[in-house]
Amino acid sequence: MQKDLRFCIDLFKSEDHLVIIEREVDPKFELPALMKAAEKLEKAIIFNKVKRSGFRVINNLFVSRDMLALLFETTQKHVVNEWIDRVKNRIEPKLVSSGPVKEVVKKEPEVNLEELPIVTHCSKDAGPYITAGIVVAKDPDTGIRNISVNRMQYKGKTKLGIRMMPPQHLGIIHDKCEKNGKALEIAVVIGSHPFDIFAAATTVDYGVDEFSIASALRKEPLQLIKCETVNLEVPATAEVVLEGEVLCGVREPEGPFGDFMQYYVPMMENHVFKVKAITHRKDAIYQTIQASSLEDTHLLALSREARVYEAVSRVANVQAICLAPTIMSCVISIRKRFEGEPKNVAAAAFGAYSWLKYCVVVDHDVDVFNLNDVWWAMATRSRPETGLLLIENSLGFPRDPFKIHQSKLGIDATAPLNQWEEFERKVVPGGLDAILLDDYL
Ligand SMILES: Cc1cc2nc3c(=O)[nH]c(=O)nc-3n(C[C@H](O)[C@H](O)[C@H](O)COP(=O)(O)O)c2cc1C
Repeated sequence: MQKDLRFCIDLFKSEDHLVIIEREVDPKFELPALMKAAEKLEKAIIFNKVKRSGFRVINNLFVSRDMLALLFETTQKHVVNEWIDRVKNRIEPKLVSSGPVKEVVKKEPEVNLEELPIVTHCSKDAGPYITAGIVVAKDPDTGIRNISVNRMQYKGKTKLGIRMMPPQHLGIIHDKCEKNGKALEIAVVIGSHPFDIFAAATTVDYGVDEFSIASALRKEPLQLIKCETVNLEVPATAEVVLEGEVLCGVREPEGPFGDFMQYYVPMMENHVFKVKAITHRKDAIYQTIQASSLEDTHLLALSREARVYEAVSRVANVQAICLAPTIMSCVISIRKRFEGEPKNVAAAAFGAYSWLKYCVVVDHDVDVFNLNDVWWAMATRSRPETGLLLIENSLGFPRDPFKIHQSKLGIDATAPLNQWEEFERKVVPGGLDAILLDDYL
């Protein structure tokens, strides 16, 4: 069978990256608090008993770079290169006639979203939210599929509030339907191989079916199966699928919600999703993601890291890139060839990805995934009087009511080329990492 969510859970279990919770937990606040605790350990966490639901819950699937490296069968540093290589060759998904996601099929009037362990994450959230749903839709004119990740607020047994606005492609597709007085059919996939949600969180040109990216990441065609009540296809090995339509001409209050920047987005008038069918595995595992967690950041970061890496590689000898812990800042390590080159690197990065606000450029001997190392380089190698690139009034993060994201700062934290010997890092003989303290205790 095709690699699915369970394959990944088993993989992380075998590599000691999984915490298993047998005690019953409440999806309201208790479960996310435990997710946060597991995040500190950089481990995925599965809850086998969840109050008011027969479903298990999984979270923190790609909370660490080590886990990403396992998924991509490479090293932390080379995950981005692996992404670039795989995505180059898009692969068409394949239609199959059966799959475990159809083990249970419930249609109206049997549909009841209360059966799902929908999690209430933050104290001021408007209610329980589906946060790891891959929304599948089709352009009404071309029939080309689009997939994206959208938050959904629980509002009743068959009703969810959904956030989807242009320029996001789902918003464009819905606008087209609404202009013709039509509702938009969607399917929401919860719990699939992580590559599927990574593809959904990737921004590509309008008209590209991101399931072809999911297939490319898998290095084989993703197996899709037809939905029961809508003209859409979903991964056959998914855990849960919701089918239905986003209503035409209807908006209702949605939010507040603790979003990816760790702030609450206020209540807004947003779209309404009417659920008409639920299909799932018999012992389904429901996936949830905490917005602003490291898992969420990695999900948003990886495709953007690839975009910046490719652009910067055209102007410099790039070693590694990291867009965590926030996707509005990045660290890039290079093998510097010329003085001044780090500023060009920062400019190329800002050009490739407009949400970037800070770009720190370090030498090849600095670990971009270790903020202590990055701060060490900034403190001991940067020259604020000459090494800063300030770009004012540029295009930045668009939802910016206080106008604080429209300028950019590049920081050259590299050592002077002609003084490299003086800036050589000291090495403890034998290598600190090589010595296991336990052997001496
Ligand atoms: C966990 C998570 C939740 C997200 N929620 C939303 C959302 O509610 N609304 C939205 O417009 N984008 C949201 N996004 C971002 C989009 O999924 C992302 O921009 C995607 O690339 C859009 O797809 P598109 O290229 O088809 O427009 C979310 C991303 C993640 C990872």
